[in-house]
Amino acid sequence: MPNYATDSPALEAAKVTPAELVRMKDRGEKIAMVTAYDAPSGRLADRAGVDCVLVGDSAAMTMFGRDSTVSVTMEEMLLLTRAVRSGVRRALLIADMPFGSFQVSDVAAAEHAIQFVKDAGADAVKLEGAGTSTRRIAAIVGAGIPVIGHLGLTPQSATLLGGLKAQGRTAEQAERMCRDAVALEEAGCCAIVLEAIPEPVARRISRAARVPTIGIGAGAACDGQVLVWHDLLGLSDGHVARFVKRYAALGDEILSALQNYVSDVRGSRFPDASHTYKMPQSELDLFEDHVQ
Ligand code: KIV
Repeated sequence: MPNYATDSPALEAAKVTPAELVRMKDRGEKIAMVTAYDAPSGRLADRAGVDCVLVGDSAAMTMFGRDSTVSVTMEEMLLLTRAVRSGVRRALLIADMPFGSFQVSDVAAAEHAIQFVKDAGADAVKLEGAGTSTRRIAAIVGAGIPVIGHLGLTPQSATLLGGLKAQGRTAEQAERMCRDAVALEEAGCCAIVLEAIPEPVARRISRAARVPTIGIGAGAACDGQVLVWHDLLGLSDGHVARFVKRYAALGDEILSALQNYVSDVRGSRFPDASHTYKMPQSELDLFEDHVQ
């Protein structure tokens, strides 16, 4: 395992910044983002060369087993962000602002974003939506914190959007989304996540924006891609969205490992001599004498 505390300044210099994301877009280099919710996954993502690690409010489902993202709290998101921070050194660490943490006022939004940076070590925050969110973004950027926007399917407003379904599929909706992307960039976003929207709309937004777009279910024209850790690694239960590509079946592997463990314990095959501590024979003789 690399020791980041003593690693060379060259590694520190390679740390991903919002400005570097824009340069990557300019150079035509794709950006890889993944979610993570604890220190080991953050460390693995970092070592794999992921550019941005997002502590997503999808934690409500992946970590806490809930049905939607809306109930996840600031306290829960801060705890997870702190854990991921201890694993991530190079990638840009982004904390997702949970529902209720930015909707009420610019001041509350900036205060909560500051908590993510100051108390949990996030490099940037992400928040969903346009309209009022655009003002919140400007307030947070004004406080000196990089912000990633999020358009298209914004799960925190799923009820308003009519469910967890693709967005921007009519000309009117698509045009509005293009205008929203411009507004988000003008408000100071350093990148924009585009979720579950048609490819041509994502292409249009990506071409027009100076800042990178990060797609999830938005096609290959985006400047980068993001996937949820559990989806990417085959750890999710039940329905998986069509835009997910599974790169491993870790859920099956973990299940089979656990079944083997249970079977070994029941069959007295674990532990064996190699897992067991010994003591000098003389001490053992003494011990047995004393016990008798
Ligand atoms: O919460 C999350 O995981 C997200 C990604 C799907 C972008 O917002």
